[in-house]
Amino acid sequence: MAVLAPSIIAADYRSLAAQLALVEPYSSSWHVDVMDGHYVPNLTIGPMIMDAIGKASDLPQDVHLMITNVDDTWEWYAKVGARRIAYHHDQSSDAAKLARVMSEAGIGPGLAVNPDVEVADIEPFLDLVDHLIVMSVYPGFSGQKFIPEAVPKLAALRKLIDDRNLAIELYIDGGVSPETAPACVGAGADVLISASAIFAAGDPAAVARTLRDIAGS
Ligand code: DX5
Ligand code: ZN
Repeated sequence: MAVLAPSIIAADYRSLAAQLALVEPYSSSWHVDVMDGHYVPNLTIGPMIMDAIGKASDLPQDVHLMITNVDDTWEWYAKVGARRIAYHHDQSSDAAKLARVMSEAGIGPGLAVNPDVEVADIEPFLDLVDHLIVMSVYPGFSGQKFIPEAVPKLAALRKLIDDRNLAIELYIDGGVSPETAPACVGAGADVLISASAIFAAGDPAAVARTLRDIAGS
């Protein structure tokens, strides 16, 4: 059974706590999209907002770093209570070592896998991470169209994880909506990440409930 992790990137920041409260009943964690204006051409949020989320909600916060200097800054997010931190493997000077260091610090390390990154590229890290984020858009912006090639990639990773009995949770991120979610669940995703489908909707709670139901089906 899969679960839902809303990405707060598309929330209305004039009333963040109220937005979180709307969808929290259908959610198992928050997905925090950190963008630095270097790795991607967009700038989003950082530890200050995570601190605010922590005061507004008890759900765990899982961070997705879309930044260049992962080695130097991941601890900022650990300090404000991140449960898991995912990064793009080519943005660390030593992605394997970073996963080990995070684990020792009590953080669940993960890799985010861009559409042009092959399963083989991340295979060396599979024993070191506790989650993988299959990207179904190129990182940078919420509201992009779901790239369908992510579905066979999810299925391939699901098989690898099951065949090797790896303790890895499989996330899907980008363009996840009530239309695209069933294929993701069918391919073996454990966690559906979704931003604009929820927060740009007239009734965010209703969409979150629908996604939660699809995840749990
Ligand atoms: C993409 C981010 C995603 C994305 C999700 O750069 O990592 O988390 O914003 O947004 P939607 O669900 O709107 O595609
Ligand atoms: Zn993300």
